[in-house]
Amino acid sequence: MSISTQFILNDQDIQTNFHPGILILDFLRQNEKLMGTKEGCREGDCGACTVIIGELANGKVTYKPVTSCLMPLGELHGKHLVTIEGLNLPELSPVQEAIVEEGATQCGFCTPGIVVSLTASLMEKGSEISRDSVMRALSGHLCRCTGYRSLIASETHLLNAVDNATGTDALLEKGFLPGYFRKIAERLNKIPSSSKPDGVVEDFLIAGGTDLYIQENKAIPDSPVTILNLRQELKEITRKNGYISVGALTSFEEFASHSDILEIIPEIEEYMFLIASWQIRNRATIGGNIINASPIGDMTILLLAMNAHLVLQNGIGTRTVPLTSFYKGYKQLDKTNSEVLTEILIPVPAKKTRIHFDKVSKRKCLDIASVNLAVRVEEEDGFIEEVGLAAGGIAPIPLHLKKTCSFLKGQIVSREIMEDAIAVMQEEISPITDIRGSREYKRLLARQLVIKSFIRLFPKRLSAEEFYEKY
Ligand SMILES: Cc1cc2nc3c(=O)[nH]c(=O)nc-3n(C[C@H](O)[C@H](O)[C@H](O)COP(=O)(O)OP(=O)(O)OC[C@H]3O[C@@H](n4cnc5c(N)ncnc54)[C@H](O)[C@@H]3O)c2cc1C
Ligand code: FES
Ligand code: FES
Repeated sequence: MSISTQFILNDQDIQTNFHPGILILDFLRQNEKLMGTKEGCREGDCGACTVIIGELANGKVTYKPVTSCLMPLGELHGKHLVTIEGLNLPELSPVQEAIVEEGATQCGFCTPGIVVSLTASLMEKGSEISRDSVMRALSGHLCRCTGYRSLIASETHLLNAVDNATGTDALLEKGFLPGYFRKIAERLNKIPSSSKPDGVVEDFLIAGGTDLYIQENKAIPDSPVTILNLRQELKEITRKNGYISVGALTSFEEFASHSDILEIIPEIEEYMFLIASWQIRNRATIGGNIINASPIGDMTILLLAMNAHLVLQNGIGTRTVPLTSFYKGYKQLDKTNSEVLTEILIPVPAKKTRIHFDKVSKRKCLDIASVNLAVRVEEEDGFIEEVGLAAGGIAPIPLHLKKTCSFLKGQIVSREIMEDAIAVMQEEISPITDIRGSREYKRLLARQLVIKSFIRLFPKRLSAEEFYEKY
C-alpha cells in the first residue's frame, strides 16, 4: 500500500510512503534514529515512548501527549510530531531543570518520556501547574526503580522556573520552547489533506489503536488498514433532538472536557483519574471502547447506565441500536463486519438526574477494573423515578442490570431497599474467578460499589455507618 503521509517531525518536513499502520515508535527509532523515544513495554503501560502530537484547528495548533507505541504512522498526516529531541534548548528547559533539582532522573531510561509529558502539561492552554497537573502528567509513567516522590516534588521547582507561563505562546515568549514552534501552524496549513477513507472497511479498522495494537501488533504492518481518525466529522459532540450526539472517534479526554458532557456529568474529570492514563485517554475513543466489548470497558459501563444508543453505518445506510441490547455474548455484538459505529446518542437527562461512576482496580491509576459500576438516577425526595445501573467485571459482557433497575424504579431509597436491590443484583450477575479476583471478591466489590454510589447520590438518606453496623 503506498499512501503518502506528510507531517512535521520536530522542525523537519517529512513525506513518507511507509505503511500507514506501522508504529510511530518504530518509525522514530528504526528510520529516523531518534533514540530519545524509548521502547519499554510496547503496550501503552510504561510511558517511555511518549511523544507530543500537535493538531491544527482554526489556525491554532493544540498539543497533547500520546504513547507512540500504539499510534499508526498514517495518522500523523497533517500533524506535528514532537519528540524529546525537538524540545531541547541550548540550556536545560524548565522541566529538565526541575527534574535535575529534585534528583528525579532516577533510572534515566524513563526520563525522556517524563520530560515530554510534563512539557505537554505546560503547553496546555489555560493550564495551571499544581500537584494535580503533575500527577496527571505522571499518570502514564510506571516507575519500578525509585517511585514518584521526587518527580511529584518537581512541581515547586516547575512553578518557580516557568513563573506561570503556560500555554505554547507564553512558553515561546519566555524562550522555554524552541523557536521553530512559531511557524508550525503556517507549515501545517500547507500540507494537503489526505484522501479520506471511503467507507470500505479494510482488514484492520484502527481508531485510537489502544486495544487493536495490543491484540494485532504484528499483523497490522502487513495488512490493509483504514485509519478512522482521518475522519474528523466522527469527532464532533453536538446536541440534537433530545440527544447529545458523540462522534464515535471522540477520545476520552475530548469527551470529558466537553461542556455538554460536563453539564450532565459534572464529576467526569474526577472519574478520568481512574481510567487509563493521560496519554491513553488522548487516544482511546468512545467508539473503540464499545466495539472492543471488554466486559470491564469503563466508558461502556457509563454509557450503558445513561441508556445510550449506537448509530451503525453500512455504506450509506444506517441503523440505531440500544447499547443495552448490543452485547449478545462474550465479544459478540449486534453488528456486522462491514458496519462502522459512527455516533453514540445519549438521551439528555432530566435536570434532576444525577450520575455516579466508580471503579475498583489493583492500582489506582493506569489499571483496568476488577469491578466497575455506573448509576444514573432521576429522583424526587428519595423517590426513584428513573434509574440506569450497569456494572463490569461481573459477567461475560458489560452488563446492564435490568432486573435491579426494575426493582429500584418507584422505590423510596432506604437501607432496607438497598439491601433488597443488592440481593436482586447478586442474582443477576455471574462473576468468574480470574487474575483480577475471585468470584466471591467480585460479588463483594459489586455490593460495595452499589452502596458507595447510592450513599454519594443520597447522602441525606443513607450513611456508611448503617451499612457497617450490619457487616
Ligand atoms: C495502557 C492501557 C490502559 C487502558 N486502560 C483502560 C481503562 O482504564 N479503562 C478502559 O475502559 N479501557 C482501558 N484501556 C483499553 C482501551 O484504551 C479502550 O478500550 C479504548 O476505548 C479503545 O479505543 P480505541 O479507539 O483505542 O480502539 P481501537 O484499538 O482502535 O479499536 C478497538 C476495536 O474496535 C474497532 N473499532 C474501533 N472504532 C470503531 C468504530 N467506530 N466502528 C467499528 N469498529 C471500531 C477496531 O477495529 C478494533 O477491533 C487501556 C488500554 C491501554 C493500552
Ligand atoms: S513503550 Fe511503554 S508505553 Fe509505549
Ligand atoms: S524512573 Fe525508570 S523505573 Fe523508575
